[in-house]
Amino acid sequence: MIYPIVKFGNPVLEKPAEKVTVFNDELKKLIADMFESMYAARGVGLAAPQIGISRRIAVVDVTFKEDPDAKLVLINPEIIHKEGRHAQSEGCLSIPDFRENVSRAQVATVRAQDVTGKVFEKTGDDLLARAFQHETDHLNGKLYISHISALKRDLIKRKIRKLVKAGEW
Ligand code: NI
Repeated sequence: MIYPIVKFGNPVLEKPAEKVTVFNDELKKLIADMFESMYAARGVGLAAPQIGISRRIAVVDVTFKEDPDAKLVLINPEIIHKEGRHAQSEGCLSIPDFRENVSRAQVATVRAQDVTGKVFEKTGDDLLARAFQHETDHLNGKLYISHISALKRDLIKRKIRKLVKAGEW
């Protein structure tokens, strides 16, 4: 099932999501739906709050279907190590048609649980490190625009308000 993507302005995107404690078939189905919804939206990462579900679950595939092994499920993820800094253009499915340069750690290690509840750690660099940080932020109710200057953030918010008024958001 493809869920519609929740856009900026919906409070679910700005509150911390609930920890996952039950690893059952319902969770597996939700994760399959999250991958389907992410691919349909042409994204490389999706957090559950972005489909209106406030639970600590994210899916990532920075290869966008090219490498099946690149599909990652992050349940209750935490960033446990960061290294270096790297600024790169970043966007978010919940803030469509906007992009900004965002400075983040170039290397990041995430500790998370998989679909069965097993704890694992994974280190990524560049785009993967960015995805770990971006998606973990989502689960803490934080959007990438919180990492840019207030001036740029206000400009984006102003443009979004106009789009909302025009019925285009
Ligand atoms: Ni996002």
